[in-house]
This record gives sequence, C-alpha cells and structure tokens, in this order.
Amino acid sequence: MSSDTEATPVRLASPSTLDQRDTGAGAPFRESVFDVSDATVTYDGSPAVQGVSLEIHRNQITAIIGPSGCGKSTFIRCFNRLNDLIPSARVLGRFMYHGEDLYGAGVDPVEVRKRVGMVFQKPNPFPKSIYDNVAFGARVLGMKENLDARVERALEQAALWDEVKDRLKKGALSLSGGQQQRLCIARALATEPEVILMDEPASALDPIATTRIEDLMHELKREYTILIVTHNMQQAARVADMTAFFSVERGAEGQRHGILVEYDRTDKIFTQPADKRTEDYVTGRFG
Ligand SMILES: Nc1ncnc2c1ncn2[C@@H]1O[C@H](COP(=O)(O)OP(=O)(O)O)[C@@H](O)[C@H]1O
Ligand SMILES: [Mg+2]
Repeated sequence: MSSDTEATPVRLASPSTLDQRDTGAGAPFRESVFDVSDATVTYDGSPAVQGVSLEIHRNQITAIIGPSGCGKSTFIRCFNRLNDLIPSARVLGRFMYHGEDLYGAGVDPVEVRKRVGMVFQKPNPFPKSIYDNVAFGARVLGMKENLDARVERALEQAALWDEVKDRLKKGALSLSGGQQQRLCIARALATEPEVILMDEPASALDPIATTRIEDLMHELKREYTILIVTHNMQQAARVADMTAFFSVERGAEGQRHGILVEYDRTDKIFTQPADKRTEDYVTGRFG
C-alpha cells in the first residue's frame, strides 16, 4: 500500500487476516464480511425490499436471484451506500461490515465505496483513454504513487492486460462490449477494494464474453469477496457458492415488495430447496 493510501483517514476497521480457519469440527469456519439484519429499503416511504437478513462470507461468490422488480438492484446498492445518492430512498435495518455499522455516524460513504467497488449491468467506461479509466478512482482517492503499476495490475487481474497493453492511451470506447466490461472491473479493482458488487454484469454481453466474465469471477474470488445479481439462473449455478432467492410479495393493501425467500449453498438452492417458491422458480414454473 502506498503512503498516499495510509494518509487517508480510515474510519472502517481493516478486515481480519484470519481467513477460512477450519474449526476442526468438519464445517470450515467462514469469516463473515457483511452481516445484514432486517434490511428494508423504501422509496418515498414504500418498501421495495423488506426484512432481509443474511451473512456474506469472505472469498465467496454470493448470487442474488429472483424475478424482475423483486429488489435485487436496490438491495445490492445498500452494500456500498449507493442508495444514499437516490433522494427518495431510505435504508433501514443493519448492515454490519466486519462488525462495524456501515451506516453508523462518522462512516464516510466514500471510504465505503473504496472498500466495496461496483460493476454495473451496462459497461460504462468514461470517454477517456483505457489508462485513464483504470486510474480514475485511484487518482480521485489520491492513490497516485506507482500509478502505472497499479493500472497494470488491475488490468492483469481483469484479464484484459494482454489485449490492451499496446494501446493504453487509446479511447476506452473503442473496445468491444466484453472488453469494456472487463475494463470496468479493472477500474473497480484499481483502488484495491475488498468486495466487488456486480449487478447483472454479463447480461448485455454475448455468450463468449459472458464466459470470460464468469471465468474471471472464479479467479477473483481468491482475493475478493463478490456479490452478484443475476437473472440468469445457470450463471448463478455456475459461479456462486451461496445463492439468495428473492421474490415479490403482496402486502395487506396489495402493494408489492421484495423479500428474501431462501438463502443457502447454491447446490442446495438448485437441487433441494426448502421453500416451494424457490423450487417453482428454479424449475422454471414461475418467473
Ligand atoms: N430509484 C428508484 N426510485 C423509485 N423506485 C425505484 C427506484 N429503483 C427501483 N425502484 C422500485 O423498486 C422496486 C425494486 O426495483 P429493483 O431493485 O430495480 O429490482 P430488480 O433489480 O430486482 O429488478 C421496483 O418496484 C422498482 O420500480
Ligand atoms: Mg436490477
């Protein structure tokens, strides 16, 4: 870490280095990165997603699946305080990050977004060079030392370096859609986050580009904790360790809101779901 980074006031505790210890009792100990309890997000006072509790484990890929409108995007935006930027949105309940309240007084949302990066559905590179795109967040955060090495490492990690190393000064918009999405992943990685949020990162891509993103996720989980929203169940089954199935429920007055129906190991969700609603969804009877 550069001295620049150390100079930044860090208000959140650093993640523990204790990782995936074995308890000796058979079940591996999984360090929790986020512990969410009773999360509700409202827009103009109406709940879009209600009463969600779950834990996100370190170095795992956690998928959030469910029908359109069940609050997947709303929910994932809570993890880096992106709903703060939507004036009508309110986040209720608790989001603990390594034991610290992500919404606590004195927690700087910019610091949160540095630890918890995000990649969106549609690749959104800036109309700048490939290099400047990757360097963007690092520059904003004052991480200016060894910027070339930082950019190279992020592009390597995003499996894009070999394709762009001779054209770093070229415009990012000249890249293909799949390359642009890997560039956005590199941009998120360049500030050395701990967690990457991905909201349908492959849904605008062709099957080959999608496979590359999925392969990349498998690589990245060695170093990062990943949350992915996907409406593609096969994708969840291929990449995720844990899967959360959300659905839409009707309140007493007929208003619709999302709920977490079931959260478990991915193989369990897809082969032996505990809830009938999960079974109907994963077998394609609904949604
Ligand atoms: N910025 C917003 N303002 C108002 N309502 C929103 C906003 N974003 C999402 N919603 C509403 O919240 C609900 C959940 O949306 P969303 O989180 O986008 O679901 P999903 O990602 O599962 O399709 C929907 O009813 C949607 O219309
Ligand atoms: Mg969405």
